[in-house]
Amino acid sequence: MEKIVPHELPNVYTDGRTLYTENLVPGQSVYGEKLVPHFGVEYRAWNPKRSKLAALILKGCRTFPFEKNSTVLYLGAATGTTASHVSDIVAEGMVYCVELSPLPFRKLVSLCEIRFDMMPLLADANNPEGYEQLVGKVDVLYQDIAQRNQVEIFLKNLKFLKEKGVAYLMVKARSIDVSKDPEEVYDSVKLELVEAGLKVIESSDLAPYEKDHMAVVGILSSKLLPSRKNQNRKKNLG
Ligand SMILES: C[S@@+](CC[C@H](N)C(=O)[O-])C[C@H]1O[C@@H](n2cnc3c(N)ncnc32)[C@H](O)[C@@H]1O
Repeated sequence: MEKIVPHELPNVYTDGRTLYTENLVPGQSVYGEKLVPHFGVEYRAWNPKRSKLAALILKGCRTFPFEKNSTVLYLGAATGTTASHVSDIVAEGMVYCVELSPLPFRKLVSLCEIRFDMMPLLADANNPEGYEQLVGKVDVLYQDIAQRNQVEIFLKNLKFLKEKGVAYLMVKARSIDVSKDPEEVYDSVKLELVEAGLKVIESSDLAPYEKDHMAVVGILSSKLLPSRKNQNRKKNLG
């Protein structure tokens, strides 16, 4: 039996080859992943080919703000594969799972019935007004939506992030422009984010786990913070 030990990122575990999270609902597998008991704790294998967040960790991600009581706004939750691992970690917090399509949403609802730190929201992330009454300010914004306007959607939802919050955007180059070289798309996405006021702290190509995908990790810069914006405006008005 391999020894499961803490990964260098908090609340993630590894046996040296596979990543794991501690199963919040022992005995329940979410997407057919292996459940591994180890010294009285049950761990769930975290598949980087099914979860871009796991892929990002294996690609050497250094920013990992998910804590026991974190609140997360997850856009494009689908059936909850990645969201369930986030739920394992933020056991005393909340994962607000926004999903547009009714088919995966049905499965997501069943998952949320047994995971009390997950809230399913059938909504369009293009219209955050649809869920802003339910979702307050969050510690982490995570988006995995393969739409042409994925950057626009992400920018609209940054308003939910707390001042020291971290935002993850999983970019699918081919959904933005199938005719362009993915590298070119990545550069223009990063530029767009920076111009909008996000400070990009990490970015990583997710190959070989996901082809033509990049993860961008950012924090709010003062340009995007409403209070500072007002202060700046006041200063500018002089
Ligand atoms: C790549 S899948 C997400 C996989 C999931 N993040 C995971 O790792 O388990 C993208 C999902 O985004 C959803 N989606 C697409 N456009 C959306 C929108 N405007 N608002 C919310 N969800 C959307 C799709 O229905 C699909 O389920």
